[in-house]
Amino acid sequence: MADQNNQQSEVHLLSKDEKFKLLESKNQEALLGGGEKRIAAQHKRGKLTARERITLLVDDGSFEEIGKFVEHRATDFGLDKEVYLGDGVVTGYGTVNGRLIYLYSQDFTVFGGSLSETHAEKICKIMDLATKNGAPLIGLNDSGGARIQEGVVSLGGYADIFYRNTRASGVIPQISAIMGPCAGGAVYSPAITDFIFMVENTSYMFVTGPSVVKTVTQEDVTAEELGGASTHSSKSGVTHFSSANEVQCLNDIKRLLNYIPQNCEEDSPVYAYDEQDEIRPKLTDIIPENPNQPYDMHEVVEHLVDEDSFFEVHKNYAENIIVGFAKLGGRSIGIVGNQPASLAGVLDIDASVKGARFVRFCDSFNIPLLVLEDVPGFLPGTDQEWRGIITNGAKLLYAFAEATVPRITVITRKAYGGAYDVMNSKHIGADMNYAWPMAEIAVMGAKGAAEIIFKREIAAADDPEAKLQEKVDEYTAKFANPYRAARRGYVDEVISPDTTRLKLIRAFKMLENKVDSLPKKKHGNIPL
Ligand code: HXC
Repeated sequence: MADQNNQQSEVHLLSKDEKFKLLESKNQEALLGGGEKRIAAQHKRGKLTARERITLLVDDGSFEEIGKFVEHRATDFGLDKEVYLGDGVVTGYGTVNGRLIYLYSQDFTVFGGSLSETHAEKICKIMDLATKNGAPLIGLNDSGGARIQEGVVSLGGYADIFYRNTRASGVIPQISAIMGPCAGGAVYSPAITDFIFMVENTSYMFVTGPSVVKTVTQEDVTAEELGGASTHSSKSGVTHFSSANEVQCLNDIKRLLNYIPQNCEEDSPVYAYDEQDEIRPKLTDIIPENPNQPYDMHEVVEHLVDEDSFFEVHKNYAENIIVGFAKLGGRSIGIVGNQPASLAGVLDIDASVKGARFVRFCDSFNIPLLVLEDVPGFLPGTDQEWRGIITNGAKLLYAFAEATVPRITVITRKAYGGAYDVMNSKHIGADMNYAWPMAEIAVMGAKGAAEIIFKREIAAADDPEAKLQEKVDEYTAKFANPYRAARRGYVDEVISPDTTRLKLIRAFKMLENKVDSLPKKKHGNIPL
């Protein structure tokens, strides 16, 4: 450090040529991060460097770096002898598909990408620029956590980042990619951001690692099992996307950006689309004759949206609900669909929270919502009740009720019980509700209903089985259709599946200029 200070204080003595040479040599030094050996070690781990990742993410030649010559200020534990330009994080801005983004990319070759005071300052500077200028923030995380030699200033640096993540939430989209370790309190910055991407086999996230787990709970678990991409994409739901490798991860981030706006004041990119050119495959045969037979809601989605445009979020988590982005008539929409092919599409805790989080993202960023409803109700049982299906189910209800973006529901088959209300019913503010002719809209399934309301009559009958069937048939005849709801206007129109795409394109266009707002408040109190 002393040498460097001397070197810097003598710059004015250099000739013009030497000054250019000094700049060039500093630039070269910064590009090397922690040095050739550590770069080779990074590659050996199957990982790209911070700069290679940036090159793959942004449009060619668009990256502008900020803070390339920042150095840490620590002196303890010999750090004054070990200084790397940029201090373990590359920060700046660039474009992806021509649209501005801000990013930081942690450099594992410098102190394991650990977060020092100055490393944190660089990230905060980029976050502030992104927030003030209204463009997405992308964080490429690869870090051993707090820079251990720096102590509390490093912890303070993390808190500075968490604070900004929270303040920017709902203002600009925030995306985190985990491309190496992410442990301890460091996990909370990604957790606050809108979307987390993880890379299979080379990234992990946990609050405490396998050795602490072993000490405290005596469990033997590998880092991958505890907090790898497959764990977080299927078991915990912490990550929204899991990618086979880093290149795919960066491509997935680019794809996501195509569906979302720059900030909360703007709309998402619109693609050219010509209604006349359409030849769509038939939808009529997707719903089976037997109402208890499953079908794959993905097929419905694929038929309704623009070709190959569905981009699923949380694909392997709570598979009984499907959420994701698509283009419909060239415009972005968010889709929430019950999945009859998984747990009959029932709403449980995980599905409710998954759906709610997605609805709130879409509402924050002006993305209209399409709900595809085929739901038998909420999942009964002690497990769900004791873990709080009431509070968690309420999150989905709250999220829909609060949303002011254009909202359309199509009831493809079942809409039962409280789930009918929750899944974007007209009563909680949906703009248009359609039902297919196979729709069944009722308080509960016919058998359960008959057993309760005709209990005494069935018990007194000579043939209780026959009586039950008679009452089931009576209830089914009355309620297993969409026309009672249509008569009341709870369903705006009963439509054929094949006309649905066109109806949706027109209805979303009709709702394009929707203005709706919430009563003046500081913020709502969603049941957490
Ligand atoms: C300083 C660190 C570091 C850290 C790694 N390094 N983590 N330097 N602070 N936190 C350095 C190493 O000394 C090494 O330097 C280089 O980075 C690479 O590390 P290796 O251990 O050789 O790599 P690998 O075997 O791949 O292991 C990576 C690792 C391990 C799993 C991340 O380094 C590790 O466990 N680090 C400590 C993690 C940790 O406990 N962090 C604090 C968590 S608490 P050389 O010079 O050899 O290249 C925390 C609190 C945040 O983060 C709270 C926020 C509220």
